[in-house]
Amino acid sequence: MLGGSRNTICLVVLGLVLCGCTAPAAANVNMSALCLMVTDGLYVASETDCSSYYLCEGAVATLQTCGSGQYFDKNTQLCNTASQVSCSIGSSATPCAGKAVGTFAPTNNSCTDYYYCGASGAQRSSCPNGENFNPNTMSCVWPSQYPCTTVTASDGVSAVSLNLCQMIKDGVYFGSSDSCTAWNYCNNNTLVTGTCPNSMDFNVAKGICDYAVDTTCSQVTYDQSLSTTGAGKCGTVGETKNATACNQFYLCQSSGVYTLQTCSQSGYYYDTISKICVPRMSARNQCDRCVGTTKTFVNAYSATSCSDYLYCVNGVQRGAEQQCPSGYYFNEDMGDCVIVDPDYACCTPSNATSSTTTS
Ligand SMILES: *[C@@H]1O[C@H](CO)[C@@H](O)[C@H](O)[C@H]1NC(C)=O
Ligand SMILES: *[C@@H]1O[C@H](CO)[C@@H](O)[C@H](O)[C@H]1NC(C)=O
Ligand SMILES: *[C@@H]1O[C@H](CO)[C@@H](O)[C@H](O)[C@H]1NC(C)=O
Ligand SMILES: *[C@@H]1O[C@H](CO)[C@@H](O)[C@H](O)[C@H]1NC(C)=O
Ligand SMILES: *[C@@H]1O[C@H](CO)[C@@H](O)[C@H](O)[C@H]1NC(C)=O
Repeated sequence: MLGGSRNTICLVVLGLVLCGCTAPAAANVNMSALCLMVTDGLYVASETDCSSYYLCEGAVATLQTCGSGQYFDKNTQLCNTASQVSCSIGSSATPCAGKAVGTFAPTNNSCTDYYYCGASGAQRSSCPNGENFNPNTMSCVWPSQYPCTTVTASDGVSAVSLNLCQMIKDGVYFGSSDSCTAWNYCNNNTLVTGTCPNSMDFNVAKGICDYAVDTTCSQVTYDQSLSTTGAGKCGTVGETKNATACNQFYLCQSSGVYTLQTCSQSGYYYDTISKICVPRMSARNQCDRCVGTTKTFVNAYSATSCSDYLYCVNGVQRGAEQQCPSGYYFNEDMGDCVIVDPDYACCTPSNATSSTTTS
């Protein structure tokens, strides 16, 4: 049954993608929380995929996909021929993939370094001292022209922090995930931030500072995935908690703020029970399990059974969660619905409360 049913599943899933179905937020950024910061009807670029974008309506982020060979242009809010759109997202393993010889690509862990995409592949170099690489203009500029910060994990791994202006259209005002009075806009892909005067609140729906009423502040989410510094207040030093991306978590620092950390081993996910990074099939974490894998079909997180699965394209979830036929379980090692329950910890409720202490 299974060889045949896979094709059917695939076509059904692709059908849903072509219809532009609602999908849970992918990868690192919590898209629901981001959508609550922008006015309804705005299209926001994907943080991980040049050809995907989201329609924001309230807290609902609806994934949309451009046609073949097209990239989403956040400023025109339209899909266009890939070569006409500046999209600085690249796969970290092959930063120059899809880029023309003679162009540049950003790194994922340094504000000052960049890759030159030469005929023989990617060559890493650094901007002159004190300058940042601006992936939008592909040039080295002063930090005031392209602010960029990195966050460093306890294991010494650093990552470039989120740049909301890669995702949000230039010139539109939007709110903040951690303050009622703060506003932001992107000027030439650079974030400009301010606060409303006279104790007014930033009204996300209207896009202006307005008198504070009960409802104007209701959209502030305190969502850590949207913090551009990785900061967030915390109590106990060393305490960790789950983040939006499976392979990341927050660690409470002695400075009293959470910083975003990435599991140091590839293929490891943060486990919310043992509170350490473990091989992904053992991680009990209600997160998007397409992240960090090249597989096309993966087990979905579940607290009830291993029968649900996701369809992934280059690590990005496409379409809604799917379910195997009754009596079948999804086994991602086999890539199929099978009769024998694989009993992966990530979808096996009986193991959800036992805790592992090895690291
Ligand atoms: C994402 O943000 C929404 C809106 O604030 C929130 O309800 C949801 O719990 C968040 N999801 C995660 C995984 O943090
Ligand atoms: C950055 O890219 C390297 C490969 O160039 C990869 O091994 C590493 O995991 C990436 N780090 C992050 C934080 O994405
Ligand atoms: C945006 O930056 C580019 C490249 O530096 C520059 O050519 C352009 O004039 C800038 N546009 C605005 C509106 O500042
Ligand atoms: C992860 O964090 C979110 C937000 O705090 C929470 O709603 C969710 O239940 C957590 N997931 C797990 C598996 O602990
Ligand atoms: C779940 O727990 C049972 C018994 O406690 C064990 O035999 C099984 O291997 C566990 N499964 C996973 C995936 O950890």
